[in-house]
Amino acid sequence: MIITGKYPGLRLRRNRKSDWTRRLVQENHLSVNDLVLPIFVMDGSNKKESIPSMPDIYRYSVDKIPTILDNAVKSKIPMVALFPYTKSNLKNNSGCEALNENNLVCRSIRLIKKNYKNKIGIMCDVALDPYTSHGHDGILSRGKILNDETIEILIKQSILQSEMGCDVIAPSDMMDGRIGKIRKALDKKKFQDVQILSYAAKYASSFYGPFRNAVGSNNLLKGDKKTYQMDFSNNQEALREIALDIKEGADMVMVKPGMPYLDIIKSVKENFKIPVLAYQVSGEYSLIKNGINKKIINDNSIIESLTSFKRAGASAIITYFADKIAKKLRQ
Ligand code: PBG
Repeated sequence: MIITGKYPGLRLRRNRKSDWTRRLVQENHLSVNDLVLPIFVMDGSNKKESIPSMPDIYRYSVDKIPTILDNAVKSKIPMVALFPYTKSNLKNNSGCEALNENNLVCRSIRLIKKNYKNKIGIMCDVALDPYTSHGHDGILSRGKILNDETIEILIKQSILQSEMGCDVIAPSDMMDGRIGKIRKALDKKKFQDVQILSYAAKYASSFYGPFRNAVGSNNLLKGDKKTYQMDFSNNQEALREIALDIKEGADMVMVKPGMPYLDIIKSVKENFKIPVLAYQVSGEYSLIKNGINKKIINDNSIIESLTSFKRAGASAIITYFADKIAKKLRQ
């Protein structure tokens, strides 16, 4: 008699014999609803500028935003994330350009809300690094990044972005206690509906290199960000960070970078009942994209990489592949 509980009676390959059965038993599925598209904005008009560190990714002047947004809305991408390339003469120690209501991010929010209303969400980073002369996310004083003084500026930055129409405030600065303070300040100003997506477990990572080039902070950065971003050796600490930010009022939390930190996404998902977003960061993007361009791997690797986040438990993924993959998923 053949025992069905083990080989040769049991054969797991049976469920994989054809495309239809593979689709039938598929456990995780990537959809357009999982994608957040980052956009780099720059000064000037009618400009589309390539970014040397990120093949196929561009900086757009604010007036050119509709060329990307039209497609993103058509593809039903749920949200875009805005990042500014600020001219160096506008940068200083405290990053006060962050509080200028005519800065690149504010102008972009106004244009997107005017043209697209609520057809797509807008997420904005709250941090000072695109605006500081030293490339750090907070105020630098005698070699230290000041926590509480930085939060006071981040609160103002959050309120300003909300006034412009930003839907999701995303503090990416890793200062202690900022989520609670920002939530309180937003509520006081009657922005109860503005969501907070906390970059709660953000690691000090080499994988951010191409992004810093894209926003023009790479040559400025003094030292590293290890006194505020997390040590990549740690996992328990990530759970403490997440627990605190949830207690302080975060609506969603993020783990960043992505693929080297799938274990963190999984344990956050297992330990908390809150949407977890993953950020497939610039270094991950450029590695995959260069591999495809050099024909080392093929472009199915993109969907494979994004599906790994779904397996780990992510609700959504911020990825520079978002627009191209959305198009592919529509076909
Ligand atoms: C800024 C910020 C960074 C990224 C997003 N927001 C860089 C950093 O912390 O140095 C990285 C994104 C990427 O690499 O794609 N606080």
